[in-house]
Amino acid sequence: MEIFRKVADMQAFAKKTVREGKKIALVPTMGFLHEGHLSLIDRACAEADVVIVSIFVNPTQFGPTEDLDKYPRDFQRDKDLCEVHGASAIFAPEPEEMYASDRSIWVDEEKLSKKLCGKSRPIHFRGVCTVVSKLFNICLPDVAIFGQKDAQQALIIKRMVRDLNFPVEIIVSPLIREASGLALSSRNKYLTDEQKNDALSLSRSLNMAKELISQKGLCACDEAVKMMRDEITKCHGEIDYVECLDSNTLEAPVENTTEILIAVAVKFGTTRLIDNVLLGV
Ligand code: PAF
Repeated sequence: MEIFRKVADMQAFAKKTVREGKKIALVPTMGFLHEGHLSLIDRACAEADVVIVSIFVNPTQFGPTEDLDKYPRDFQRDKDLCEVHGASAIFAPEPEEMYASDRSIWVDEEKLSKKLCGKSRPIHFRGVCTVVSKLFNICLPDVAIFGQKDAQQALIIKRMVRDLNFPVEIIVSPLIREASGLALSSRNKYLTDEQKNDALSLSRSLNMAKELISQKGLCACDEAVKMMRDEITKCHGEIDYVECLDSNTLEAPVENTTEILIAVAVKFGTTRLIDNVLLGV
């Protein structure tokens, strides 16, 4: 497995791979890999000849008061896991390698990024779209794999690929949970045992909401949201949002909505977690 720290080296490898007629899959990550990421790498290996995992804690997607500095990092462990799971290369640049000090171009999505997480993280998706565009230009993937855990991110990346004509197929891979129901996240590491227990209210209430709406239909969305808010608050969660939206538009469901996204963002202590379920209606 190759490790690249420089953009030019990564790009040269990607160009050579393209010339050889091989298919490239990219798995963009911020490292501190867990089973969720590993399922993305496995999917990538099933899709392509060459799998590149990028490991880059992207500073431009963190707000000034967010956890950039304390975001967990363990390169050696990530490297071993990538190797075991069959990745061909890791791209792990330093921030200075990715961003010129006088950079002045951003990739910004203007609609979907204003909803859900975008309300409390106003620059987040601009940072994500910009870094993912750069990773596409550096790694030249035919296909890129994203997790359903970040449902809004996956939707925005698909929109970006469509609107900017990136020649990349986007695959969204299922969300992975612990046996307890807790959605896997690198940020789970911050939780105390007690907070971890409280955080189970997320998957529990999402399941309850899913059940309620599948029984009563879309008219039960408000009731489901209220029920979820009560359950999460009872477990000391500080709610950022609990919403039931059309999964394609992130607008309130309408008559021709075919699938809804029930999504939550909640703080337990200082740790902000997100989770979601999809439901065909
Ligand atoms: O999902 C993530 O880990 C990040 O947002 C991504 C896609 C790697 C961009 O930095």
